[in-house]
Amino acid sequence: MNPIRLRRVLFLSGAAALLVVAPVVPQQPAPPRTVPGQQPAPPARTTPRLEPVAETRLLMEGLAQSNFRGLERMLTRKPEDAESWAFARGQALLLAETANLLMLRPPRNSGQDAWMDRAMDLRAAAGRLARAAADNDYERSRAGLGEVANTCNRCHQAFRVTTRIVPFQVEPPQRKAALPERLQSLDNELARH
Ligand code: HEC
Repeated sequence: MNPIRLRRVLFLSGAAALLVVAPVVPQQPAPPRTVPGQQPAPPARTTPRLEPVAETRLLMEGLAQSNFRGLERMLTRKPEDAESWAFARGQALLLAETANLLMLRPPRNSGQDAWMDRAMDLRAAAGRLARAAADNDYERSRAGLGEVANTCNRCHQAFRVTTRIVPFQVEPPQRKAALPERLQSLDNELARH
C-alpha cells in the first residue's frame, strides 16, 4: 500500500468508528450564541457591600434608645397577652440588629476590637432577652433588660460617652448621668431585683 492510500484507509476507518460511537456520546450543551440585533449581556453585577449611612448618634436615638425604652415600658408590669410578649420579643430582636448595624461603624482610629466586642455583647444580651420574651418569662426578661443596659453602658464607658442607661428608673437619664460610677452600677444591680 502506498503511504497516501494507507492514510486514506485509516481516515475512513476512523470515520466509521465515529459513526458507531456518536449516538452514545452525551450531547454537549450548545455554546451561547449572540443573537443578531440583541444587546450584549450586561456586565456582572457589583457585589453588594454593607456601608454605614446614618450617624451613630441617630442609631442610638432611633433604634437603641427607643427600643430599650419601649421594652422598659412593656416590662414595667408582667405583659398579659401573647401579643405584648411578641412585641417585646420584636423590640429585643431590633436591639440585637442594632448591634449588627453598630458593627458597620467602628471608630476609625483605634478601639475597633473593643467596639466590636461591645457590639457583640449587646447582640448576645438582646438575643437572650428575645428568647426570655418568647418564653413569656417575666423574671428572666426583666433581668435580661438589665443585662442589655449593662452592655450599653460598657460600650459608652469604653468610648467616653456620658450617657448611662438605667432600666426601670423613674427619673430622666440626665440626672443619673451626674452620679458617680459606683452608684450607677449599684443602681443597675438594684433595678434587676
Ligand atoms: C458599640 C458601642 C455602643 C453600644 C453597644 C451602645 N452605644 Fe449608645 N452610644 C455609643 C456612642 C459612640 C455614642 C455617642 C454617639 C455620638 O454622640 O456621636 C452613643 C450615644 C448614645 C446615646 C446618646 C445619643 C445622643 O443623642 O447624644 C444614647 C441615648 C444611647 N447611646 C443609648 C444606647 C442604648 C440604649 C444602648 C443599648 C441598648 C446603647 N446605646 C449601646 C456607642 C454605643
